[in-house]
Amino acid sequence: MTARTPAIILGGTGYVAGELLRLVLGHPRLELAAIASDSQPGEPVADAFPHLAAACGDLRYLSLEQAIETTMKHERSAVLAAAPHGVSHKLLDSLLTRAAAAGAKPAVVDISADFRFADPGEYARVYRHPHGAPSRIREFSCAVPEHLDRAPTPHVAHPGCFSTATLLASVPLLALDLIEPQIFVSAVTGSTGAGRNPIAGTHHPQRHSDLYAYSALAHRHAPEIAALARAAAGRAGHFAFVPHSGPFARGIHATVQARLSKHLDTGAAIAALRGFYAGRPFVRVLDEPPRLKDVVASNYAHLSAVADGDTIVVLSVVDNLVKGAAGGALQWMNRLLGLDETTGLTTPAPGWT
Ligand SMILES: NC(=O)c1ccc[n+]([C@@H]2O[C@H](COP(=O)([O-])OP(=O)(O)OC[C@H]3O[C@@H](n4cnc5c(N)ncnc54)[C@H](OP(=O)(O)O)[C@@H]3O)[C@@H](O)[C@H]2O)c1
Repeated sequence: MTARTPAIILGGTGYVAGELLRLVLGHPRLELAAIASDSQPGEPVADAFPHLAAACGDLRYLSLEQAIETTMKHERSAVLAAAPHGVSHKLLDSLLTRAAAAGAKPAVVDISADFRFADPGEYARVYRHPHGAPSRIREFSCAVPEHLDRAPTPHVAHPGCFSTATLLASVPLLALDLIEPQIFVSAVTGSTGAGRNPIAGTHHPQRHSDLYAYSALAHRHAPEIAALARAAAGRAGHFAFVPHSGPFARGIHATVQARLSKHLDTGAAIAALRGFYAGRPFVRVLDEPPRLKDVVASNYAHLSAVADGDTIVVLSVVDNLVKGAAGGALQWMNRLLGLDETTGLTTPAPGWT
């Protein structure tokens, strides 16, 4: 029988932790060793995720302390962290320090923003608090998996959902030198992007049947997108990023526009994207505009492009909780564990969500 690696999920009752749990329970090479909750240790996991009750039975949350102790017991484990930013840096620093003292070497993928910036000063400027574990940053690479074949570090930071959708569309344009560096992004997210706790502006009555922009040109993910695009494409882009709240639960639709630096028609633009993502199992480049329902609840990203005169538009759709969080994180974890990156992730979208 093939050995399974123990998996430890942090971020307990959150939406992303729920998706991590769903994917880990169906993963052929991982075995759930712990799911930890800060607020509900000892409580049944099925109370937080009734849709997973058939798969998780009477599984209960461990405390964060018990989760750290679990990593100390295993020489190698897979830690998938979905705690809030501003929490994750100290939590993972403590976990890694104690695991190392016990002779354990967990592989970590963090889905929060805490290890995305290479520069702790940039993190402090954007997130308005100092980084809690600056010496750990160099142990994390941050990239969309399709833009970095192998992480040169023991751990990975997931770039996040808006960034995944935007980077998948824009990095080929920069890397192939097809555009001027000013890039305009309009991206619409579903309500699960705001997490489990409803606040004014993000909960159902406010978002239902409505569409509105927020934090135009001032969103915290814009500097992350710019830094990650520069690293992935080897060329800087200036991103004018306008996020929108969409009246649906899951998914991100990003519209990326730029001025062409060379003549390209629509067919050539689509061919350029196809060439760039050839051999990438989770990216499909379509002839027609992509639709959210074709990717929601899956790890697939769909792209398409239109070019006319001096303008190119690239359209990109992903599921924010899977490709944009839990699935993208598992794709990286598969690689860190030496598995095929697609392991446990190839289920297509259900379609009629
Ligand atoms: N939602 C998305 O589409 C998305 C996409 C990409 C990245 N992310 C990132 O993924 C992370 C989780 O997002 P989410 O949407 O799942 O958020 P969420 O629904 O608000 O859940 C976050 C969970 O973190 C736990 N938590 C809170 N305070 C904690 C603490 N002090 N120590 C440890 N755990 C604590 C809480 O669960 P317990 O009290 O049960 O531990 C909470 O339910 C965030 O960093 C977010 O930015 C989210």
